[in-house]
Amino acid sequence: MPATIFVLNGPNLNLLGKRQPEIYGAETLEDVERRCRAGLPEGVDLRLLQSNHEGQLIDWIHEARDAAAGIVINPGAFTHTSIAILDALNAYDGPVIEVHISNVHKRESFRHHSYVSLRADGVIAGLGIEGYEAAVRRIAGLVAGT
Ligand code: DQA
Repeated sequence: MPATIFVLNGPNLNLLGKRQPEIYGAETLEDVERRCRAGLPEGVDLRLLQSNHEGQLIDWIHEARDAAAGIVINPGAFTHTSIAILDALNAYDGPVIEVHISNVHKRESFRHHSYVSLRADGVIAGLGIEGYEAAVRRIAGLVAGT
């Protein structure tokens, strides 16, 4: 059985490529998945998931407890509001990397605080969708022990 990395995406990220491309770029979540898959080592797989609903993201984090070797998460705006997502991640034992496509620290002050960062082992912001590739590479390396 391959080790699976969950790549979780929160609200509005289904519109990636169409929504505010001057901030988030022209590439889509399908492009994110294709790029992340291209760098996967043997024996490591990924599941890219997106939901606009907080409870669904929490259910996937619970599922990850038994099914995922690591989590890459871009919680979208829930980053700045969701203690429930933080609590779910605190109940997960594997590595967690938080990704933001934009540099949230260069934007409105309400984007400067992240609940998820209190749990994340790494945080990437402002690298565009390359941030997902870096996060997946890091977790795949941890999983493969390289
Ligand atoms: C985001 C940054 C958040 O502040 C915003 O609400 C998003 C996307 C990012 O990837 O840059 O939806 O997480």
